[in-house]
Amino acid sequence: MSLEKAYEWYKSHTHDVHQSWKELGGEKQWEGYNQLNKLIEEIKDEFNFQKIICVETGASQDKNDGAFGLFFAKLCELTNGEFHSVENNLNILDKSKSMYEKHGVKVKHYLQDSVEFLKSVKIVPNLIHLDSWDLDLEDPFPSALHGWREFTAIEDKMPIGSIIIIDDNFFKGTWVNYNVTFNGEYNGVVKRIDIEYPIVGKGCLIYNFVEGGSSNWKKLSKDVVGSNQKIIFKKIK
Ligand SMILES: C[S@@+](CC[C@H](N)C(=O)[O-])C[C@H]1O[C@@H](n2cnc3c(N)ncnc32)[C@H](O)[C@@H]1O
Repeated sequence: MSLEKAYEWYKSHTHDVHQSWKELGGEKQWEGYNQLNKLIEEIKDEFNFQKIICVETGASQDKNDGAFGLFFAKLCELTNGEFHSVENNLNILDKSKSMYEKHGVKVKHYLQDSVEFLKSVKIVPNLIHLDSWDLDLEDPFPSALHGWREFTAIEDKMPIGSIIIIDDNFFKGTWVNYNVTFNGEYNGVVKRIDIEYPIVGKGCLIYNFVEGGSSNWKKLSKDVVGSNQKIIFKKIK
């Protein structure tokens, strides 16, 4: 119920992005809505905490990037929970503060490396959205390693029934028009990248660990080829 309410609220606060996307010729609905529809379908019968304590790594600040933290923050508010956001770039953190304030949801912000934050955190999250170290499809390993380090820093602290969501993953058979960057800046070149490994992305090491069968987690998300995917795991023991 809270998931649906938070989603309706998110839609009403991101309607402008959806609208401009349609005006640019987008056929169906904006990708942000596709991702959240799928996410809600995948967790709605699996996530049963009355009070949601959520952490996002990589602060939401631009609705064009999804700003999924808005959805999670609203979900926490609707359940009398807490929403925490960690970011290591002060400039982005300031933009993030303004964005959340503008939309009237309560957030506790932290300026820190996300792995260090998760290692020392005292709160007990039951929902995590890992979306920090940007994925470079020409060199995906640092981002995947960072995602893995975030996971190992927090997994033991989360109660059974908790959910971890990891953004920016691509399955084999997907191709991506990738904006090439040089020293972190887009250099105007777009290159087609074909995903040839079974999975490439922020969560690919976690995915392989869970699918390997000896973890305390099970996969909830469906593996979909053709677009950027959030992968989702539930703690089962
Ligand atoms: C993809 S963006 C986050 C998008 C956001 N979650 C959303 O839904 O719109 C990634 C963010 O992670 C931050 N970041 C990168 N490395 C980080 C680290 N080691 N610790 C914390 N934040 C980091 C970047 O500065 C950037 O703001």
